[in-house]
Amino acid sequence: MSGDAVGVGLIGLGTIGTGVAKVLKTNASVISQRLGFPLRLVRVADLDLDTDRGVDLEGVRFDSDSQGLIEDPAVQVVVELIGGYEAARQMTLQAIENGKHVVTANKALLARHGKEIFEAAVKHGVDVAFEASVGGGIPILRSMREGLSANRIQSLHGIMNGTTNYVLTEMEKTGEDFEVVLKRAQDLGYAEADPTFDVDGIDAAHKLTLLVAMAYGAELTDEDIPTEGIRGLTPLDFEAAKQFGYRIKLLGIAKRHEGRNGEERIEARVHPTMVPSESLLAKVDGAMNAIAVHGDAVGPTLFYGAGAGELPTASAVVADLMEVAREIHRSGPAGRVAPLSYMPDHLERKPLAEAGQAQARCYLVFEAEDRPGVLGQIASILGENGISIQSVIQQGRAGTARAVPVVVLTHPAREASVQAAIAEIDALSELAAPTRLVRIEEDLG
Ligand code: HSE
Repeated sequence: MSGDAVGVGLIGLGTIGTGVAKVLKTNASVISQRLGFPLRLVRVADLDLDTDRGVDLEGVRFDSDSQGLIEDPAVQVVVELIGGYEAARQMTLQAIENGKHVVTANKALLARHGKEIFEAAVKHGVDVAFEASVGGGIPILRSMREGLSANRIQSLHGIMNGTTNYVLTEMEKTGEDFEVVLKRAQDLGYAEADPTFDVDGIDAAHKLTLLVAMAYGAELTDEDIPTEGIRGLTPLDFEAAKQFGYRIKLLGIAKRHEGRNGEERIEARVHPTMVPSESLLAKVDGAMNAIAVHGDAVGPTLFYGAGAGELPTASAVVADLMEVAREIHRSGPAGRVAPLSYMPDHLERKPLAEAGQAQARCYLVFEAEDRPGVLGQIASILGENGISIQSVIQQGRAGTARAVPVVVLTHPAREASVQAAIAEIDALSELAAPTRLVRIEEDLG
């Protein structure tokens, strides 16, 4: 290790807070191998000290004293996960005034009071990090701030609210009314008991406010953004959209316009939108999020992933913690991002999995003579090598061709067995050409 542990204090042990505590514990070794020093959860504050969240807080001080946590010298970074406006604002400002860095997932707070908070952070020389506030686990803010920083952002279209995307997907699928689907979404835990922020587009407007600031340097609050939610949509709208070749998504949209004299105008709005059915955004279903960003140099990009949930959101919070902790170590050897993500002393040769052990369903094409028994020979060689056939197509003979293609789809099979079978089959005198193999990858993550 090249540095001392950085002390973390967590305010709010709800869903995301619990996820953060779990990720810090479960992934402690990979985190410290990447940073060059550990992150240590030293304190947690929550009003509810009784509920069992299924997380081990051994060695962590856990009480309801958020004030004490903010003032605790052992806490260098405060993670604010209580949500809402005023209490969160006060705690965040107090933490900053106490010289603590802050990590938050609170888009409502930053969309409304961002200017005050960021100015206070600059004044006190601390960081405020908020990756988890937009797109949950999708690293969209880091990508906007770093990966796309050479671009003028021409447009941004985001499905940034999982609850509404779930409701819209279900309304389209079932033809049911908004209220019926919302009730089911609430029963299944996809929608809050009070769904206002989500279904009225307010949550999406909070997130768009932050993206617009990052994309254009525009100082807005969510109240500046024209916002319309999804309550007014009816089954007819989905039916008609389908017939016209569209799907309906709640989008946050931002665009940059340049006037004749070069003056810049920013368009920002949130509303249900019909998008072409063949577009990538149209294919984002259920509670997933996706943000399409078009930069003048890079062209179109798309960021997709889980926009909410315990571990996806915790993934973004802990990534922020790592970035802030690295800043704390800035003057030491651990103050820089490791070029290959792991600190050099944690890079080591690791054994690669044996290529022959890989498993995949296979598409095989045999150019075989159309004679009795040939297909049987091929099938028995596959069988002897432990390869099970899922289906076979043999095409008719074309003109005077001697050979016909026999197409076989296998069940998942070991690479080494497939290669052995192909070698045997290709040695048959009835084979007119080497067998072609295309491996099928079905579980794409
Ligand atoms: N309520 C949000 C959503 C998740 O449904 O996407 C938190 O931002």
